[in-house]
Parts: sequence; C-alpha cells; structure tokens
Amino acid sequence: MRIEDPKIAAALTELDVQLKPAASLAELTSLGIGGTTDLLRITKHESIPDLLNLLDAQSVPHRFLGGGSNLLVGDGELPWVVLQLLSPEPDIVLDGNFAQVDAAADLGRAVTFCAKHDLGGMEGLIGVPGTVGGALRMNAGAYGMQIGSYVREVKLYRAAQRRLETLRGDQISFEYRHTSFAPDDMMLAVKLELPSKPYPEILKGIRICNEKRRASQPLGQKSAGCIFKNPLGASAGRMIDELGLKGLSVGDARVSDRHANFFVNAGKASAKDMLALIADVSERVQKSFGTILEYEVVVWDA
Ligand code: EPU
Repeated sequence: MRIEDPKIAAALTELDVQLKPAASLAELTSLGIGGTTDLLRITKHESIPDLLNLLDAQSVPHRFLGGGSNLLVGDGELPWVVLQLLSPEPDIVLDGNFAQVDAAADLGRAVTFCAKHDLGGMEGLIGVPGTVGGALRMNAGAYGMQIGSYVREVKLYRAAQRRLETLRGDQISFEYRHTSFAPDDMMLAVKLELPSKPYPEILKGIRICNEKRRASQPLGQKSAGCIFKNPLGASAGRMIDELGLKGLSVGDARVSDRHANFFVNAGKASAKDMLALIADVSERVQKSFGTILEYEVVVWDA
C-alpha cells in the first residue's frame, strides 16, 4: 500500500515518523519472504497515539512489525502499511537488578549486555533472533526458561484504549508462546528483574545453549524458527521427522533436514509456496497422529 496523499506525508514528518516507500518485507524478515509496502519508522513512543489516529482517520490499514523473525508475510503489493519502532540510544538502561529495555532492542544484544553486567537468567534466549518486544509479545522461551518470568513492567500502546499505558508484570499472563496482550497492542519497553550471577558463569550457560542450538537447528538458513507450537507433552519437530518429511519441498520452501519444525527458504520461496508446505505437513500430521498443530509462526497473508 502506498501513501500518496502529500497531506498524510507532511503529517508523518510532523510526528517524526520516517516514511520509506515501497519497502520489501522480504528484506525485513528472517524467512526472506514478503511483498512490498510503505514502511513507517517511529522515532518517538509519544507520537504513536497521534500516528494511529491519523492512519485511522485517513483509512490507512496498518500492521506492526518487530524484528520479523517469527513472521510469514504474503507476496506482492501488500494491502496495509507497516509500522516499526526505531531503537533509541541507549536502548538498555540498568539499575541494580533491573534492566529497562526498549522493545526495538535486539534480544541477543540485550542478553549479552545484561550478562556483561552480571545479570543472568536469560541464557536460554541466546540465539533466538528478533527484538525484545517480539520476544515479550509471544513469551519467547528455550531450554527451560521464558522471558515472561523476568518481566516486572511493560510500557505499551493499548489499541483498544488508544493510549500509552504501563502494566505491572502481575497484570499480564505469560503462558507457553502466548501472552494476554491484545493482538493490536504494541510493545514499547519492558522492565526486567534479573538474578545476579557472575559473568563467567552466565557465559558458560550461554555457550551450552549456543552449542545445543547449533547442533539441532538450521541456523545459517533463512527460517522463522519453529513453524508449529509443540502440542502438550509432544514435539512437533519429532512428529514431522517420524513421518519422514525432512526435505519435503514446495518450490524453494523446504522442511529443514536438521530440524523438522523449521521450514527454510532455500532460495526464492514465495509465501504461497511456504503456506502450501505448511498446509501439507499439517494435514499429514493430523492424518497420522490425529493432532491439529497450532501455528507458532505469525502469518500476515495479503
Ligand atoms: N526431534 C527429532 N527430529 C527433529 C527435531 C526434533 O526427533 O527434526 C526430537 C529431538 O531429538 C528431541 C525432541 O524432538 O528429542 C525435541 O527437540 P528439540 O530439543 O529441538 O526441541 P523442540 O521441542 O523441537 C523447542 C522449541 C524451540 C526451542 C527448543 C529448545 C517450540 C515449538 N520449539 O523445540 O523454539 O529452541 O525447544 O528449547 O516450542 C521456536 O520457538 O521457534 C523454537 C525454535
């Protein structure tokens, strides 16, 4: 979708929102899939209510992008503009055991920055791509930990109330890859409380998790991490593997040979290819195991 009205463009400039016309979502997502649309980069949290009022008043549909690492975007010209936060400087501020982190901060950087200041707990998240805001929204986790356990406060834009709000950690529920945030809430910043641990000890944990991840996941390839959530007490990857589906392809969309719950873009896969592969695998799992796999990846189909 293109913003062509010069009045809207001028209003965006006034809100310090940067307009990047015809941005390629393939370049903004780890899967390397997605069509084009105008990208609006937000430099100040405070401008968000006015920005969204402006877009609504002008009937400009929008989606909010984090780090694009758990996302499958449709092909071609997309029917909505995309909003993205620009990270402020500094994006992480420490105060004792508390870390105030901007939602646009890179998750891996946040883990290592805190580690270097003897704050641990998040070792398992090393290697999880994306932003802190994205991790927060879906309660990212790995190797027995999840980010929600450390959340004490979240600053967000509440779409339903049309205003910025701060919630305490105990006002939010964090479950397996799920939170109580509304789908159109925008994560802006989070205050984490992290346990004190000496850096060398944290580093040891980080190295172990990195090693496990390298051994079992296709890290060098374009993917969105796990495509499906694990059903209670089971592993979607193991089920897909047991059906012999590693290497199954539709065009350049392919079930990874390393981890069957990772679907990779092995070249020029389209969203259509990837969605067809997801549907095929999901049908086969349902037929063989009677299990309906739930998507972990977020799909923005045009
Ligand atoms: N397995 C297979 N074949 C495969 C993949 C896995 O047999 O192709 C087996 C493994 O050998 C192991 C079991 O399945 O015995 C579980 O595998 P793994 O340890 O890789 O864990 P997972 O359940 O497949 C989950 C998360 C990952 C996270 C890892 C490590 C989900 C959907 N996946 O994977 O998170 O990194 O545990 O904690 O919850 C993600 O969320 O995108 C993600 C990758």
